[in-house]
Amino acid sequence: MKSKLNQIREEAFSLLNDESCNIEEVRIKYLGKKGELTSVLRMMGQLSPEERPVMGQLANEVRAQIEEKIASLSEIKKAKELEKALNDEKIDVTAYGREQKLGKLHPLTQVQRKMEDIFIGMGFSIAEGPEVEYDYYNFQALNIPENHPARDTQDTFYITDNILLRSQTSPVQARVMEKTQPPIRIISPGRVYRSDEVDGSHSPLFHQLEGLVVDKGITMGNLRGMLETFAKTMFGEKTRIRFRPHHFPFTEPSAEVDVSCFVCGGKGCRLCKGEGWIEILGAGMVHPNVLRTCGIDPEVYSGFAFGMGIERITMCQYGIDDMRLLYENNIKFLKQF
Ligand code: PHE
Repeated sequence: MKSKLNQIREEAFSLLNDESCNIEEVRIKYLGKKGELTSVLRMMGQLSPEERPVMGQLANEVRAQIEEKIASLSEIKKAKELEKALNDEKIDVTAYGREQKLGKLHPLTQVQRKMEDIFIGMGFSIAEGPEVEYDYYNFQALNIPENHPARDTQDTFYITDNILLRSQTSPVQARVMEKTQPPIRIISPGRVYRSDEVDGSHSPLFHQLEGLVVDKGITMGNLRGMLETFAKTMFGEKTRIRFRPHHFPFTEPSAEVDVSCFVCGGKGCRLCKGEGWIEILGAGMVHPNVLRTCGIDPEVYSGFAFGMGIERITMCQYGIDDMRLLYENNIKFLKQF
């Protein structure tokens, strides 16, 4: 039995000394419930009473030695694994980083957001309306009856006789007034459609931003002051604005509004085509017929409205001379903004 125990110790040690050994397997093979050391101990009963304690002691010694060896090997193995992990995950803080390419907003969206911010700063909130619109809101409620010539200049796409793709954001005016009594102070940005051929300055789909203010005692002076604040914030502190008389069926009086050219300051250059001024929007006092149609008493309330093209302002701001560039999604072009 003594030699059996010594043999177990030698075998176990020689297995454990092999680097590639599986420590857990060795433990089970020798120390496990059905292990070799255990089966030797089972035979203790056959020994004489004198031999028993001697063998018992030897067996305990062998067990302790193997256990100790296993414990120290496990420690070493763990330390090696840790070292390997630390090495593998080492970060070279001096290495060049891999560039993360950030996407950004389309220039039209950037300009639209900037416009929204300016108006929100002046107390406006944003109202939305459908792009597929009733003829009623796009035209009739805006004082444009059937057969009115204004319908030709805003020829759009018809879904049915009385449903169309809105040709302007002005129908949102009517929708808001119909639902809300003054005070009203909203802007409404969004897509509009007209049946135009695509060229450098036309597209069947483009964007407008509408504005509407209705309250007691609103005047053209309020419109002018508000547009001037907008223009200075949008195009620069030195910007001036001017009103030219115009006609829109839903405003009276109506005006086209120009800003002084923000490239040449008014002297005349390529951007303003020598004019010194750039037309940016249409505006006017809301027509009493429109107020009345939408359930607001024109004897009590007055209001102003304005509408501007977001493409036009974007093109002016960035010096883009062909509108098609805004829709082609050419990454090289878009990266510049
Ligand atoms: N809806 C007009 C257009 O598309 C612009 C406008 C809006 C004019 C509001 C006056 C008041 O041309």
